[in-house]
Amino acid sequence: MTDLILDRERMPLHVAVIMDGNGRWAKKKGLPRLAGHNAGMKAMKKIVDHSDKLGIKYLTVYAFSTENWKRSLAEVTGIFKLLVTYVNSDLKELVENNVRVKVLGDYSSLPADAVRSLERTLKETENNTGLQFNIALNYGGRDEIRRAVEAIGEKIRRGDMEPGDVTEEAIGEELFTGRLHDGFSPDPELIIRTSGEMRLSNFLLWQGAYSELVFSDVLWPDFTPEEYERAIAEYQSRDRRFGGR
Ligand code: FPP
Repeated sequence: MTDLILDRERMPLHVAVIMDGNGRWAKKKGLPRLAGHNAGMKAMKKIVDHSDKLGIKYLTVYAFSTENWKRSLAEVTGIFKLLVTYVNSDLKELVENNVRVKVLGDYSSLPADAVRSLERTLKETENNTGLQFNIALNYGGRDEIRRAVEAIGEKIRRGDMEPGDVTEEAIGEELFTGRLHDGFSPDPELIIRTSGEMRLSNFLLWQGAYSELVFSDVLWPDFTPEEYERAIAEYQSRDRRFGGR
């Protein structure tokens, strides 16, 4: 599709994406913000497909943060409606494509129809063995770490754990991406953020400790598979040392 040559031997196993810029995209076109989210959803679908084609095993998208509740009720409700539309209309295709959907975040406080649609999607895709597509919903990195600390504190209180057992691995296991949760995913090698903003905004704070960060100026609805490959090529050009030499 592009003249970029990606090194198939060095594909990231896990790519995470901060899909930013839907609102600005809509504003530029004189459209309501929700039109931007709708276009963003279409862009997201193409990136899911393309991740699978590239042999990426885990894709995580930041769809709704713990802070996004501060937006107008119309926008919040609209985003969840889009989510329901997406999972209901694409479930068959996700199953056919062997995609396993997981949610990172406490989705129990979402509207009831969104919870129902998500649970159906999780159930119907749980035995798939292809791409794992993690949707971060009502997700915040600090909230996730706070929950892990609380769970560990509870284990210590019960006498199931000693303070000296609180290793990095033990904390990692309690995160939404950890082995004690069914969203288990390795740490992302690559985190992409679109729309020219250069910050993590509470996304994968623990898991992103050594992730390569790639920023694209493109607004999320315009982020094509070609842009995606460009971001991966940039990742492949980096020299990852993990604090070593
Ligand atoms: C960031 O753009 C985007 C979001 C907060 C929502 C992401 C939602 C989608 C991509 C579509 C819906 C898909 C699902 C799975 C719910 P922004 O609104 O912050 O853009 P701005 O910074 O330009 O205002």
